[in-house]
Amino acid sequence: MAATKAGKILITEAKRGLGLEMIKQLSENSCPNQHIFAACRDPDVPNSESKELARKHPSVITIIRLDADDPSSVKDFAKKVGSLLGNNGLNQLVNNADRKRKLIEIESIVKSFKATNCNLPEYLPYLQMAAKASGTPGMSSNKAAVMKIFSVVGSISTMPSIYEQFPTLPYGASKAGCNMLTVLAAEEFKADEILCMTLHPGWVKTELGGVKSNTALESMEGMLRVIDSLTEKQHAVLQTTCKLIL
Ligand SMILES: NC(=O)c1ccc[n+]([C@@H]2O[C@H](COP(=O)([O-])OP(=O)(O)OC[C@H]3O[C@@H](n4cnc5c(N)ncnc54)[C@H](OP(=O)(O)O)[C@@H]3O)[C@@H](O)[C@H]2O)c1
Repeated sequence: MAATKAGKILITEAKRGLGLEMIKQLSENSCPNQHIFAACRDPDVPNSESKELARKHPSVITIIRLDADDPSSVKDFAKKVGSLLGNNGLNQLVNNADRKRKLIEIESIVKSFKATNCNLPEYLPYLQMAAKASGTPGMSSNKAAVMKIFSVVGSISTMPSIYEQFPTLPYGASKAGCNMLTVLAAEEFKADEILCMTLHPGWVKTELGGVKSNTALESMEGMLRVIDSLTEKQHAVLQTTCKLIL
């Protein structure tokens, strides 16, 4: 199982799919003083695997309620995380947002964009705090990093030819926006030494991905391996971390 040495990690949308797999692998192989804040829309549903993991590893995982589509929930969530973080701030923000909306309605497009926007401004002070507290020069994923999860459906050059296979305008447009956001955030936060980049997890067997694909376990192993090795060389760069089967 892969791991990362970062201290404080925040993972959005961790109730199932890749987010759940991430907290599973991290908690089973956690480093001393590591703590994971896992955001779930409805953490108290019966048989919640993320809740079960938090019960099994109470010193490693804290589950906090977050409905990413609700601005007041986003604010409450950020406040709660801030109150639990302490003086060394947040080392990794993994924005695992997905919104596979098919409808070409303004509401769908706006929600998709909001999800990929990841509410970075809410967490910026904590990332800056972590970068300062680290006392080491340069960038790394263990010091202060924002990782967004990309999908090939956000690729402007690839998408027209695979649109029949993936007819998801809001999702595709928001993922393309996510890429631009990362590239520009990378410029904006260079001086703060906050690493910003996007990861493509491959095509993964989750509710979103379907069946003809990698397992969440193999995808996440690849993703964590890449995350742990990131330096400023990958700042603003998109990394594919598992096979892309189309
Ligand atoms: N799977 C793939 O093949 C693939 C390929 C490329 C990129 N990705 C990217 O990987 C990331 C994770 O995808 P996935 O495959 O793990 O998706 P998934 O299995 O569909 O899981 C989606 C997660 O998002 C949560 N969620 C949805 N709406 C929410 C909201 N309003 N507030 C809070 N949580 C909400 C879901 O929780 P609920 O149970 O509460 O709905 C669930 O935990 C996404 O960024 C996706 O674009 C996936």
